[in-house]
Amino acid sequence: MIGDKKIVFSGVQPSGNLTIGNYLGAIKNFSRFSEDYKTFYCVVDLHAITVRQVPAELRRRTYETLALYMACGLDPKQNTLFVQSHVPAHAELGWMLDCYTMFGELSRMTQFKDKSAKHSQNINAGLFTYPTLMAADILLYQTDVVPVGIDQKQHLELARDIAMRFNQAYGDTFTVPEGYMSTDTMKIMSLAEPTSKMSKSDTNQNAVVYILDSKDDVMRKFKKAVTDSDACVRYSEDKPGVSNLMTIYRAFTGKSFEEIEREFDGRGYGDFKLAVGEACADGLAPVREEFARLMADKKYLEEVMKNGSDEAAYYARKTMSKVRRKIGFVN
Ligand code: TYM
Repeated sequence: MIGDKKIVFSGVQPSGNLTIGNYLGAIKNFSRFSEDYKTFYCVVDLHAITVRQVPAELRRRTYETLALYMACGLDPKQNTLFVQSHVPAHAELGWMLDCYTMFGELSRMTQFKDKSAKHSQNINAGLFTYPTLMAADILLYQTDVVPVGIDQKQHLELARDIAMRFNQAYGDTFTVPEGYMSTDTMKIMSLAEPTSKMSKSDTNQNAVVYILDSKDDVMRKFKKAVTDSDACVRYSEDKPGVSNLMTIYRAFTGKSFEEIEREFDGRGYGDFKLAVGEACADGLAPVREEFARLMADKKYLEEVMKNGSDEAAYYARKTMSKVRRKIGFVN
């Protein structure tokens, strides 16, 4: 607790252009907590370097991700917005927690298995201990709630296990966090391959809708989206393409699945895809405009980063002094 408020933490990697999966699954939900919780939203650049990044692009995307947080409705006066590498305690606690995390646990992480298959030339130690750094991010702020998409569930469970293990050994030190997954949108699927997650690192540009795509691009991608030969707009597990489009349409319009089925009853997929594209492009338009405005003022973004990291560092220091004392480091 900070004052009488519970604490929320989440992060996004500046490792690629952000997708509507990142938006609907995570960032759009962040502002729900702004009023009633103390919120920390971080651009996790230390995590991004587990995969090779072009330095100039990493730097640009760090600004962009921060600007997108704000363009998606996070006011820096109400939320602590900051860059992970600006608060060295993340890396410091990450190391300490490495010593309370088992090789076997990390070996079981599906993201590690996926990423090491994908980057077989660069299976570095950071990729392996990524989940411990993520646990450090969360535990550093005594976080109660972590809003994320379902792909982060396993990492979150590990963070809870590490917190409990540490507390067991040293007495109450860390708050054990809970995940918050918005059941409506916790897994947005690829438009080209609707049985796999929409991912910012996908090389097929038609599979992914980016938050900053132009309306033309959004429309083109939805027109090409994979459906099925059934020609019936109905939500069903055996219709992953159509169900994913319905999920996206619902998220942007607020209509229920029943309403959507009625709306497109007897109409082909062509009409349906156009409607999804329109709803998505219209929903993203204000975000895009605000993003452009913010990106034109780098000074302001730097001021936000600075204030955010000063504030985050203040709370991080409190946890770190407790952790150092518990472990037995000389003060
Ligand atoms: P990242 O950068 O891959 O994704 C950011 C957020 O977007 C969610 N997400 C999705 N949600 C629904 N459908 C999708 N297709 C989709 N794709 C991505 C992710 O679940 C995530 O919430 N490890 C994290 C970053 C991180 C973090 C943290 C998160 C580092 N430290 C501490 C929370 C707390 C990641 O790679 O997210």
